[in-house]
Amino acid sequence: SVAVSSVKELANLKSIPSSYVHPTMTNCEASDSRPDDGSIPIIDFSLLVSDDPDERSRMIEELGKACRNWGFFMVVNHGVGVDLMQAILDDCNEFFNLTTEEKLEFQGKHVLDPIRYGTSFNASVEKSYFWRDFLKAFVHPLFNFPNKPPGFSELANEYCSKIRRLTNELLKGISASLGLEPSYIAKALNLESSLQIFITNYYPPCPEPELAIGIAPHSDHGILTLLIQNGIGGLQIMHDGRWVEVNPISNSLLVNTGDHLEILSNGKYKSVLHRAVVNNKATRISLAVADGPSLDAIVSPAPELLDSEENLAKYRPMKYKEYLVAQQSNPISGKSALDRVR
Ligand code: SIN
Ligand code: FE2
Repeated sequence: SVAVSSVKELANLKSIPSSYVHPTMTNCEASDSRPDDGSIPIIDFSLLVSDDPDERSRMIEELGKACRNWGFFMVVNHGVGVDLMQAILDDCNEFFNLTTEEKLEFQGKHVLDPIRYGTSFNASVEKSYFWRDFLKAFVHPLFNFPNKPPGFSELANEYCSKIRRLTNELLKGISASLGLEPSYIAKALNLESSLQIFITNYYPPCPEPELAIGIAPHSDHGILTLLIQNGIGGLQIMHDGRWVEVNPISNSLLVNTGDHLEILSNGKYKSVLHRAVVNNKATRISLAVADGPSLDAIVSPAPELLDSEENLAKYRPMKYKEYLVAQQSNPISGKSALDRVR
């Protein structure tokens, strides 16, 4: 197979190399999707933290429904400034515009390397590649980040702190929606030292978008992922057995639930399958900030959600770090990482 360093360098081709023809896309049924019809849940964050207990209860109920029925929702009135969101996306773009030599300085070798620039998902173990370059950085409990372009690191630090605060508030609501103490999830997963990962994805125009995929169907390993994008669509989520194209409300944050919320809730809130498709017109940039348990946390279903006969634990305890390494070291594929703890 081709030794790839980035798809950004392939964007001027007239057709894609055969190693980028992805089996998931050549299966027509699997590639079928329907447009967003406005049914994706919307959470008004300002009401979730309102002084009015009735407003709060209403939003907690909405959050619970969104997690149970979709594993995905949009958050509006979240208080993360529009200017900050725009500025961080601009800097992500500037990072990908660095020279190949500059970017390769950050090329990670191991999935636990705290800064990792790369292409596809894990190009060293894959047979077909994704039309995607990425930068990942572990930004909490320790803040690791590339030192270029200038100012990127400071902005990312500010953005990720805001996202962590927002995530923690959402998790209070999600705990309450499960009938648990608001601080339950934070305590159970030791969120004080939560692993937070900054992941920015770069999907350049693709000459044969119907044959390639940006990132194949997968679920996220953590608890919650909060995503923004540069106004170009491509994210699709699985709902009722069909791919739904996500058409975000402007300035909203897209949230999806991860495998560790599924485990903690004993399957009440299932992680959502999602994928990114590519297009032949415009570069898409997305920024996902994923919060997970502490790397050392051993996660198992909340005992409060189990009862002796009806509701036995469906997942066995596993250290988050082991789960993460297993998922990231293999080609990404649906929810196969979760199968290993069942
Ligand atoms: C991802 O799931 O990692 C990326 C999703 C996106 O680019 O929208
Ligand atoms: Fe994802």
